[in-house]
Amino acid sequence: MKTVARSSLLALALVLSLCLSLAFAWRDVEEEVGWRRGQEGGREEWGKGQSSSEGGRPYHFGEESFREWARTRHGHFKVLERFDDELLRGSVGDYRVACLDAAPRAFLQPSHYDADEIFYVKEGEGVLVVLRKGRRESFCVREGDVMVIPAGSIVYSANTHRSKWLRVVMLLNPVATPGSFEEFFPVGGEGPNSFFSAFSDQVLQAAFNSRREEVEKVFEGQRKREIWQASEEQIRELSRSCSRGGRGGGSSGSSKEEEIKPRSLPSQKPLYSNKHGRMHMITGDECRHLRDLDMEVGIANITRGSMLAPRYTTRATKIAVVVEGSGYFEMACPHKTDSSRRAERQERSEHSREEEGEQQQKKSRGYRQVRAQIKEGSVIVLPAGHPATFVAGNEGNLAVICFGVGSSNDEEVFLTGGNSLLKQLDAPAKTLVFGEQGREAADRVIGAQTESVFLAGPQQQQRGGGSVSDM
Ligand SMILES: *[C@@H]1O[C@H](CO)[C@@H](O)[C@H](O)[C@H]1NC(C)=O
Repeated sequence: MKTVARSSLLALALVLSLCLSLAFAWRDVEEEVGWRRGQEGGREEWGKGQSSSEGGRPYHFGEESFREWARTRHGHFKVLERFDDELLRGSVGDYRVACLDAAPRAFLQPSHYDADEIFYVKEGEGVLVVLRKGRRESFCVREGDVMVIPAGSIVYSANTHRSKWLRVVMLLNPVATPGSFEEFFPVGGEGPNSFFSAFSDQVLQAAFNSRREEVEKVFEGQRKREIWQASEEQIRELSRSCSRGGRGGGSSGSSKEEEIKPRSLPSQKPLYSNKHGRMHMITGDECRHLRDLDMEVGIANITRGSMLAPRYTTRATKIAVVVEGSGYFEMACPHKTDSSRRAERQERSEHSREEEGEQQQKKSRGYRQVRAQIKEGSVIVLPAGHPATFVAGNEGNLAVICFGVGSSNDEEVFLTGGNSLLKQLDAPAKTLVFGEQGREAADRVIGAQTESVFLAGPQQQQRGGGSVSDM
C-alpha cells in the first residue's frame, strides 16, 4: 500500500466516502459532486462519484409520477403528484401539473375547477368555451397557444380535428385548498355526478322553481362520460363562433391585456435566438392574468445536440415540462434533505476518529449534482438561484415549456457565454479572486465561449482559441 501514490489514496478515500454517503442518502440519485479543495498541494479538483442510476429527485418527475384522474376511450386527464418534498413545498407546493389528451372530436363536458389554469397546447387544435362574468366566450386554440382560465370559469371544449389528438399541458393554481383542486360538473349522471345531486329535493325544487323529477332528469340523468366523442356536425356547430379573442369595440371596460384569449407562444418575438436554440416568453406585461398570478410562461427550443448555457433565476421557480424531444438536465444543488443529513451525521460519527475526513467535511461546501435523462412528459423543477442547464439529445430538438412561478422582478442570469454575468467582474476583483497569475487564464476561460444562451452541446463542442491545452 505504501507504494501507492498519496494522491491516488486521497482520491480513493474521497470516492469511497462519496459512495458511502450516496448509498445512505440518495437511493436513486445520480452523482454527488463537490468542488472540493484537496488537502495537500492546494489543488482543486472536481470530486465526482458516479452512481449507477439517475433520478434527479426530488426535482425530476417521470411518467410514473402522474396519476390518471379521468380516462375514457376518448381521452384522459392525468395529474402529477404533489410537490411535497421539503425542498419544493415552499416555492411550488401549492401548484399542480396536469396533462390532458383528447381524441379526435372528443367533447369535454362543462365543468369548473377551484383552481386557475394556465395551459399550453402541445399538439392539435380545439374549441374552448368559457363562461364567466355573466357571458360566454368561444376560442379557437391551436398548437403553441398559451391561455389562462381564471378559477371558477365554467368551461367546455372539444378537439376539432378529425384525426389528430389534442394534447394540452397545464399548471393549476388551486384557490380553495393549497396543493389540491377539484373539478365540479353541473351536469352528470352515469359518468361524473352532478354537484346538484348533493342538494336536497326541497332545495332543488325551490331553487329551480321546477318539479324535482324534471330537475333530476336534466342535471342528473345524462349518460355521458366526462370525455366522449361528438359527431362531426356537432363539432362544426360548436366551433362556428370561435375566435382568437380580441373582441371588437362592443363590450366596454376590459382592456386588451385583461382579456382572456389564446396567445401563440412561438409567434412572440424570441427573447433569445441563434442556431442552437430559441426562447419565447409571455410575461405579465402581455397578460394581466399572468401578472395577477405572479407567473410567466416560456418555451426553450434547443436545437438537436445543443445546450442551454448554465443559468439560474433570481426569484422565480421554473416548473419545466418537456414537450418535444429528449436529452438531460443538470443542476447544482447545495441542499441536503433530512434523510441525507441523517446519513451524513451517522457517517460522521462512525468515522469520527478519522481527523482528516472530519476536516474535509467541514471545509468543503459541496454541491450535489442533480441530473436526469428527460423526455417528452418529464417534469423538472428548477428553484431560484440554482444553476442548471438542459442538453438536447442527438435525435431532434428538445423543447421545454417553463411555467415561472413567483416571477415578478425575476431575472434569468447566465453563467457562461457572451452574456455571462461573471464577465462583469472588474479587474481588481479578478486579481483578488484568481491571483495575479491566474487572472489571464480566468479571462480566457470566461471569454472563450462566444455564443450566448444557446450553445454548442458537449458533443458538438470544438474548443477554440488554443486555450485548451493538454500539454
Ligand atoms: C422547435 O423548433 C423546431 C425547429 O424550428 C420546430 O420544428 C418545432 O416545432 C419547435 N418545437 C416547439 C415545441 O415549438
